[in-house]
Amino acid sequence: MNSFYITTAIDYVNGSPHLGHAYEKVLTDVIARIRRMMGDKVHFLTGVDEHGQKVQQSARKLGIDPQQYSDEISAEFRAILPKLEVLNDDFIRTTEERHKAVVRRLLQQLFDKGEIYKAEYQGYYSTRQEQFLQNKDRNADGTWPELFGEVTEITESNYFFKLKSYQEWLVQFLTENENFIFPKFRQKQVLEFLKEPLNDLCISRPKERLEWGIPLPFDEDYVTYVWFDALVNYYSAVADKPGIWPADYHVIGKDILVPPHAVYWPIMLHACGLALPKGIIAHGWWSINGDKMSKSTGNFVEPIAFVDQYGVDSLRYFLMREMSVGQDSDFSDTQFLARYNAELANNLGNLVNRTLNMTNRFADGLVPVAGQAGAPELELQALWAKTQPEVTALWAEFQFHTALERTLAFVTATNAYIEKRAPWKLGKSEEAGDKILLQTSLATMAEALRLATGYLLPFMPGAVEKIHGVLGYQPGENWAEELAWGGRLQGNRVAASLVLFPRIQAEKTPVKS
Ligand code: MSP
Repeated sequence: MNSFYITTAIDYVNGSPHLGHAYEKVLTDVIARIRRMMGDKVHFLTGVDEHGQKVQQSARKLGIDPQQYSDEISAEFRAILPKLEVLNDDFIRTTEERHKAVVRRLLQQLFDKGEIYKAEYQGYYSTRQEQFLQNKDRNADGTWPELFGEVTEITESNYFFKLKSYQEWLVQFLTENENFIFPKFRQKQVLEFLKEPLNDLCISRPKERLEWGIPLPFDEDYVTYVWFDALVNYYSAVADKPGIWPADYHVIGKDILVPPHAVYWPIMLHACGLALPKGIIAHGWWSINGDKMSKSTGNFVEPIAFVDQYGVDSLRYFLMREMSVGQDSDFSDTQFLARYNAELANNLGNLVNRTLNMTNRFADGLVPVAGQAGAPELELQALWAKTQPEVTALWAEFQFHTALERTLAFVTATNAYIEKRAPWKLGKSEEAGDKILLQTSLATMAEALRLATGYLLPFMPGAVEKIHGVLGYQPGENWAEELAWGGRLQGNRVAASLVLFPRIQAEKTPVKS
């Protein structure tokens, strides 16, 4: 069995989970579910990043201990996972002993190898970004970009990791592995970044300035720089589990690709003699109603409140249907409502309702045996034969938005097929030929619905399970076999009804603004 290890970024615990965090988890979960369906042994890791200045400051503001603060916020992050139907295998917190021990071991190893040295640093420091700055980071008018917050001039001794000496190696690695980062244009950006000489990386913070971190094993007066600590989670979580490392994919947002994941992390691993991940998926960012997501201005979507109101399946569907992985997207009420009503309520939901209603009305609730296929059936089967390889290929390229579009186009075609056959007319006819045609059309719509749900399962696992339940369908182990057109539901008793996606009135505004 092929093993497949996938991770999300670990979230800072300096605030509650938001839509961006939820998206990343759902995206990773979709990939993990697809791999499980294909028979891989999946290990899916997510977690929280608890150390560093931001967390220390947030705890101080509330007048509580950073550990207590992290405990509370971490619990919130952990609690959203089942609500989002995210099936992770592990959840790591960077304050856990299993993580701290590995960080210290790797640091000691690098120190012993002479890859870490102590030096005096004099220059500018951004507290908000926990980053040392150079003059080249300034705006053209000499001021510091807003993202750095308050910038102060400091002089202090620190430990440095010899990042610079690996620059050539990294350029060569990325040149030879041109699909290391998805989407490809991001890999080009990394190579662009590497055209400038790298500086060695300051990997320590003096304890008097920052206490909330992992002490360096070779100098307890310092704690580890938060990125050197956080990145290691991907490895520390599985260091004692044989056969899992290296990761197949790290799923992260575009903001933390360069330099942490595309530069520091490969170099850290290489210097430690550890295998590199096979790939990195850098997704885009969500804005809300056209504006930057911000809690302070109220332009914010609280993912769990949204799920409670509109259901987890519609949120997962919308996130995956709307955003092209790697590009930015906007989360707006109008777009959510439009997709929900048109694609879920009127299209998929309608097909479910029609299938159940008509099977009950015209066949005593039992899916009939199909007669010989006529032109409309052959047309629908041909569309399926075309859709199937297309969707599978789109999945492999992380083009989930287009894959869903094609899947729903097949649902639309099935609804159009029903219009064409008009079983409600056939049901009134006494002719023997019409009776067979009626059976054929009922069997065809049920089969088409069953097949479409095969491609919806990783996106809307809850809704699909319900649909399978009302069709009396239990998919077998071999997923590819399940996708073949056949008469799998023949003789199954269907349920009376299923309300999945009730229409939402436009006056209700789902997205807070
Ligand atoms: N703690 C670091 C990551 C360490 S990984 C070893 C961090 N945390 S974060 O909480 O700020 O961000 C976590 C993830 O959420 C990142 O991948 C980030 O890109 C993602 N998102 C944050 N805001 C987002 C949007 N508005 N939209 C989509 N994803 C966003 O960075």
